[in-house]
Amino acid sequence: MLELHAVSVELSGSRIVSDVALRVGAGQTMALLGRNGAGKSTLVKALAGLLPYAGRAMLDGKELACLPAGARGAHLGYVAQDPAMLAARLTVFELLLLSQNSRRLGWSPPRQSFQRADDILGMLGISGLAAAMPMQLSGGQRQMVALALALVNRPRLLLLDEPTSALDLANQFHLLDTVERYTRRNGIATLMVLHDLNLASRYADRSVLLEGGEVRAQGATGDVLTGERLAQVYGVHCHIVPVAGRRAIIPVELCR
Ligand SMILES: Nc1ncnc2c1ncn2[C@@H]1O[C@H](COP(=O)(O)OP(=O)(O)O)[C@@H](O)[C@H]1O
Ligand SMILES: [Mg+2]
Repeated sequence: MLELHAVSVELSGSRIVSDVALRVGAGQTMALLGRNGAGKSTLVKALAGLLPYAGRAMLDGKELACLPAGARGAHLGYVAQDPAMLAARLTVFELLLLSQNSRRLGWSPPRQSFQRADDILGMLGISGLAAAMPMQLSGGQRQMVALALALVNRPRLLLLDEPTSALDLANQFHLLDTVERYTRRNGIATLMVLHDLNLASRYADRSVLLEGGEVRAQGATGDVLTGERLAQVYGVHCHIVPVAGRRAIIPVELCR
């Protein structure tokens, strides 16, 4: 379970994230929504340990900032908006072995690391990418690999920053189905930045909407994403219609 109390983040002297309070229960997925520049990536980077924050951020009752670097790496899986570590000249399989054994001296990964790498690739349906180097892959394939690396150490908190931005339609469902199943089965907390409001409606139990670094609305995704609020925050008129037992959000035009 992830609990934030009055979390704020400053960059170059300006407050980018202000007093965010939220709670993601065990087995729950929360969508982090908002316009470009709202502070979504900044908040996620702070939770991932890449930026300092003020306030309290507790994972399973322990302050994230107080976890030693090694423990933080083991408890937390992070998929960045543009995954840079994938520039290494290593194969996908080697990266999966390395990230499980980054604190071991010498280079002799135990047998279970090979098994775990195989299992994760199989779970994501990307076993065929094991011998490829990430720089040889498409943007969408790299996103799948980044998720494999985020899951390989069995995190308690999964932070995903626009994880489906480069994925085709089928892979968007495939990745988010996998994340949803993994989150529920393992009772972990997942916080994911999404721009596609229909994916948020389908996959996020709850959503938080940021505007100018502050929480504008928070709650069950269906309650957060009303037509009126979408017009206020995004400046776009949307129709919200029931389709096949779900709410479909159809953007219609810019508000004038
Ligand atoms: N290093 C920085 N120094 C100052 N401002 C920054 C820095 N990095 C990002 N920002 C600003 O922080 C705001 C939020 O950025 P970001 O968290 O990336 O937004 P989002 O992910 O919601 O699109 C933006 O206005 C951006 O210009
Ligand atoms: Mg961002």
